[in-house]
Amino acid sequence: MEHSFEAGAPIFEVRDLCYDYDGQIAALEGINLTVQAGESVAILGSNGSGKSTLLKILDGLYFPSRGTVEAFGHPLSEQALRDDAFNFAFRSRVGFVFQDSDAQLFMPSVWEEIAFAPLQLGIPPEEVTARIDAALAALHLEKLRDRPPHQLSGGEKKKVSLASILSLAPQVWLLDEPSAGLDPRSVSWLIDFITRQAGDGKTIVLATHDLEIVEAISEQVYVLDEDHHLVAAGTPGEILKDTSLLVQANLARHK
Ligand SMILES: Nc1ncnc2c1ncn2[C@@H]1O[C@H](COP(=O)(O)OP(=O)(O)O)[C@@H](O)[C@H]1O
Ligand SMILES: [Mg+2]
Repeated sequence: MEHSFEAGAPIFEVRDLCYDYDGQIAALEGINLTVQAGESVAILGSNGSGKSTLLKILDGLYFPSRGTVEAFGHPLSEQALRDDAFNFAFRSRVGFVFQDSDAQLFMPSVWEEIAFAPLQLGIPPEEVTARIDAALAALHLEKLRDRPPHQLSGGEKKKVSLASILSLAPQVWLLDEPSAGLDPRSVSWLIDFITRQAGDGKTIVLATHDLEIVEAISEQVYVLDEDHHLVAAGTPGEILKDTSLLVQANLARHK
């Protein structure tokens, strides 16, 4: 199955996006942003600002209440995803790592967890086996391959979640607060892992309120405020030195 996306189109084009839960609880208000291929983007915002909602929309799990989202030059709508060829092409290219690993992991063993996405996409079994071995090695999970994911530590679960997406070999990584709940050493390997994916030309869209990870990983930062508006865009250098912006968006405390 082939679906021809528009050559040279941005990965995501978000225009005047609003999202309300149940038609009344505002989660995103008038968002405009573009993600280019190979870019590392951070969506920076405090709790409840709308980061997870935005990532779910970019993953085609939720759809705009108003405004539009395009992926690879093609409208990312409920109707578009009902088309098998488009759905397959989109799902092959975009991987989503949930904030809560327990919401992501559901298979009886680490090995089966990592096998799930590529098998689902119809990748031949020999190729799937090679991808599983590569993902286990990349995240140093070989010793855990037969363990049930739900019994692992928080950091181990995060590695399994990343491996389960790595085996999909996505062009685009959507990462929802990947450093939340991780100890400092785990945050270091997480930063290394994401940096390697970016170095391989992958596109990264990472939601966080962790200023350290933004500085380490992203080239472009978009700031959401507590009223769900996009209030700033810039390089990490520009955004992180703007103390009044960070205080206003509840990302830093008054000194
Ligand atoms: N399932 C839901 N039903 C109703 N409101 C929700 C739901 N999920 C999130 N919200 C609301 O939408 C807003 C944005 O939430 P969310 O995208 O989860 O923010 P963040 O990920 O930045 O913490 C918040 O005000 C939150 O209370
Ligand atoms: Mg969230």
